[in-house]
Amino acid sequence: MAADTLLERITDYANRPDPYPLYAELREAGVARQTDGSYLVGTYHEIAALLHDPRISSDLRNRTAGDRALSDEEQSRPFIRLDDPEHQRLRSLAMRPFGPPHSPGRIDAMRDGIARITEELIEALGDRKRLDVVEDFAYPLPVTVICRLLGVPREDEPAFRAWSDALVDSADFRPREDPTERQRTGAQARAEMGRYLMDLAEQRRGHPSDDMLSAFVNEPDPARRLTREELTVTAVLLLVAGHETTVNLIASGVLTLLRHPDQLDRLRREPGLLPNAVEELLRYEPPVQMRERTPLADVDVAGTTIPKGASLVLALASGMRDRRRFRDPERFDPARPDNQHLAFGSGVHICYGAPLARIEAQIALGALIPRLGTARLVQDPPAYRRNAMLRGPRHLPIEL
Ligand code: HEM
Repeated sequence: MAADTLLERITDYANRPDPYPLYAELREAGVARQTDGSYLVGTYHEIAALLHDPRISSDLRNRTAGDRALSDEEQSRPFIRLDDPEHQRLRSLAMRPFGPPHSPGRIDAMRDGIARITEELIEALGDRKRLDVVEDFAYPLPVTVICRLLGVPREDEPAFRAWSDALVDSADFRPREDPTERQRTGAQARAEMGRYLMDLAEQRRGHPSDDMLSAFVNEPDPARRLTREELTVTAVLLLVAGHETTVNLIASGVLTLLRHPDQLDRLRREPGLLPNAVEELLRYEPPVQMRERTPLADVDVAGTTIPKGASLVLALASGMRDRRRFRDPERFDPARPDNQHLAFGSGVHICYGAPLARIEAQIALGALIPRLGTARLVQDPPAYRRNAMLRGPRHLPIEL
């Protein structure tokens, strides 16, 4: 049997708790060509340059080489999967009710509400001595926040959690698995979630409330109105992106702090360090480990020509441990200066929700840190989610 390729080893579930030695191997190899014809890049400067290179497409329909079939996620067209100018048009329409320049105070105004949800989750723990940080805290917080923002009833969470699970599962990298069944389930989940969100938007047509679905469906200017199809895929993207990532940041954050009691202590004494600590957590345990692209022309990367149409995997998590960019990169340093990480990507597709994710993580960890005094991890490493691209604990049991 042929030796496993690096991508197969990185995405192998057995390596999910600690993929970092494999990323070190990848940086050593430079650009790694995989047996399926895809290319893997893991060094910071090369990844950053590729994220800004207009010859590198996010639209995977441009892929012509390699034998990996397009997943359902890859065939649908939310703006994360489109190139400019179409990407820019849809991103700016989706941004209007979310952030600057049209809604500059929107996310900042959510701080008090996020702090209240956080307090309620903590109060609900009562005097329990054991909790699952994921189920009791890291998952419900971003879900409640994105539901409020979009205008999705929180009580429908069990339905959209199942759809979202199927959807991100269908988009994951599993080079050795036949993706057919995952793609079928993913397509069905996407269609159901899309119908559900479109129904909610329709209910608000002519009866707007202060949520993003209302804003999209009641846009008065026809030139700025999303079509039905655009509204559906954008709403699915926001609901999924808004709750599948921040959960990993908060859960991996608690895990990292409990593994570094000296730094946890320091943050208890110096709460002003928290925003910087969140940036370091994003670098050190990034919730989005890799992104996929396709070159529109042959492109030279560190002496290797990546052919037009190839599958190109950018291992963001590896780039953020590159010693050519970060001093002592394997060290978790909440006071790290000059931390220009790639956890939210870079270039035209840079994360739309980053300001919200930062506020959620700062409030969540700020509320938890004083309560983690004598806490200990029940299981280390914890059980991880299956997903290799969206990496984070599935459960994180701790004892207080
Ligand atoms: C810790 C939390 C988060 C992380 C680590 C994260 C990470 C990322 C990354 C790496 C990208 C770039 C994708 C690419 O270049 O292909 C991205 C894009 C995006 N993110 Fe986030 N994200 C987070 C939270 C959120 C939230 C809360 C939302 C929604 C409110 C969101 C919505 C989006 C959207 C819509 C895009 C596509 C942007 C575009 O294509 O122009 N993200 N995110």
